[in-house]
Amino acid sequence: MRSYEELVGGMGRAVAFRARRQLVRDLLRDQAAVLVLRGAQFPLYDLAISGVSFLVPQNQAVGGIHDVVDIEIVVHDATAYRGPARIAREERAPEQRRVAVQLLGGFLDLPGMQRADQEQLLLDDLRDGPERSLAAVPESYRKILMEAVLFTSYYRRALAEHETRIGESGRAEFARNELVLRAITAIRPRWHELRVRAAEATLPLRASRGAMAGAKEATELLLTPILQAAPVLSRAYHKPLGHAGDFTVMTHIYKDGFEGDTVFGRVFHKLACEEPLSAGVRAWKDLVKELTLAEHRRKASQSAPLHVLSLGCGPAREVVECLSEAKTRVSDIHWTLVDQEERALSVAYHDVMRALLSKGDSCSLQCLFMSFEQLIKDAQSLQGELQDFIYCVGLFHYLDKRRAQNLLATLYDRLAPGGLVAVGNACWPNDHFWLADFVLDWHMFYRTPDELRDLAMPLTTVGATLEVRRESAGAYDFILIRKPGGGA
Ligand SMILES: C[S@@+](CC[C@H](N)C(=O)[O-])C[C@H]1O[C@@H](n2cnc3c(N)ncnc32)[C@H](O)[C@@H]1O
Repeated sequence: MRSYEELVGGMGRAVAFRARRQLVRDLLRDQAAVLVLRGAQFPLYDLAISGVSFLVPQNQAVGGIHDVVDIEIVVHDATAYRGPARIAREERAPEQRRVAVQLLGGFLDLPGMQRADQEQLLLDDLRDGPERSLAAVPESYRKILMEAVLFTSYYRRALAEHETRIGESGRAEFARNELVLRAITAIRPRWHELRVRAAEATLPLRASRGAMAGAKEATELLLTPILQAAPVLSRAYHKPLGHAGDFTVMTHIYKDGFEGDTVFGRVFHKLACEEPLSAGVRAWKDLVKELTLAEHRRKASQSAPLHVLSLGCGPAREVVECLSEAKTRVSDIHWTLVDQEERALSVAYHDVMRALLSKGDSCSLQCLFMSFEQLIKDAQSLQGELQDFIYCVGLFHYLDKRRAQNLLATLYDRLAPGGLVAVGNACWPNDHFWLADFVLDWHMFYRTPDELRDLAMPLTTVGATLEVRRESAGAYDFILIRKPGGGA
C-alpha cells in the first residue's frame, strides 16, 4: 500500500478527470459487442462508462465531429445502451478509422456487460460441447494429435511405474538418473519425428481460421496437460509474467539439463531444450558473443572503448560468457542492458557484475528498467553515449512489421558512425513451430530472410548496409545493419 504522500494526483497541474477506457478485447470476447448506427453494425474498439470508440471502414460516412447521432450498443442480443451520442473525434487506424463517441443519454454498465458475455459463454459451452471447435479440425490433424497423446501418455505411465519400482530399491537416485538417460535415448528420435509430422499436418489448416483455432484448442485440451511435468514447458505455457520467453524459461534453455520432479518430466524437459527453437537460443548467444568480440577488436584498433547495448537483455548470458571465457582480462567495454522485467535485470546485473569483478578492466555496466515502447517515445531515455553495437534477440518476432520498423529506426538513431545493429528473429519456413505454436500457445512472427531484410530496408536510404546471417542451429536469422562512417 502507498502512503498518502505518494498519491501525487496530477503532479502539480490540473488534470481533467476522464473515465478510464478499456480495450474491448480485454473486457469481452471477440464479436460479443457491436455498435449500431443507422442500421449498420460496427465492431467496438474500446469502452468507458461514458463513451466508446468503434472501427469504421475508410470510406464509410458516420457523421462529422460534434454531430449528435442515435446509436445502440448491443452485447450479444441485449441492448447495453440506446440513445444519443456526440461524435468526439476520429483517428486513422491501419486500414480503417477509429471513431470515438460520448454518450449523452446515460452510462454503460461495464461489469453488467461482462456478466452478460460470461452468461452467453456458459450457455454456448453447455449447448455446443467440444464439437463447436473440434468440428473444424480435419481428420489428418486429429490422427497425429491422437498419436502424440498416446505416445506421451504411454511413456508417462511406463516411466512412472519404473520410477516407483526404483524408488523402493537402494541407490535410488543413481538408478533414476540411469532410467532418464535410457528413456531419452529411446524416446528422442520418435518424439522429434512425431513433432515434425505434426507441424506438417498443420500446414493445410493455415487457410482456415476456424480449423487453426480448433486444432490449437484440441492440442491444448489433450496434449498440453500431459507435458506440464516438464518445467520449461509448464512455465512457457502458463506465462506467469505475461509472456512465454521470460528469463526463467531462458535460464532453463541455457542450462539444457534434466529438470523436473519425475523421470517423465525430466525427459520431456530436456527434449524441449533440444528443440531447434531452444538450441537456436544457445546458438544466438554464441553469435552475439562473436559479434561483440569482433566489434571490440574494431574499436580497439582505433584505441577507443566499445559501447554495447542489449535490448530485452533477459539474463544476459552472452555478456557473462564474454567475460568468463576470455583468456585474459577484458578491457574497455561498457555494457547497457535494457529490459522491461525487473527480475530479469536483477539476475543479469548480479551475474554480469560478478564476471566483471573477476575479469573486467575499465569495463562498466548499467541496467535500465524500461520497455522499448518508452524508448521509441522518448529517444532521450537512453542517456549517455551513442552505442557502437546494439543487439536485440528474442524480441522482434513478437512485433508486427510497423512496430519492428519503428523500433529498428530508434535503435539505428542511437548508433555511433560505423556501428552495428544486430536483430534476431525466428526464421521461416521451418518444421519446428508446432510445439511452440500449438502446444504452448506461444505465437511468434516467423520471418523469411527477405521479410527480415524488409524491416531494415528504410535504413538503406540513409546509407545503412545490410547482411542476413543464420545462427548455427538454423532456427533464427539475424539482420546485421551497419551505419556508415567512423572509419569502419
Ligand atoms: C526471449 S527473451 C530474450 C532474452 C535475451 N535477449 C537472451 O538472449 O537471452 C525476451 C526478453 O525481452 C524482454 N521484453 C519483452 N518485452 C519487452 C519490452 N516491451 N521492452 C523491453 N524488453 C522486453 C523480456 O522481459 C525478456 O527478458
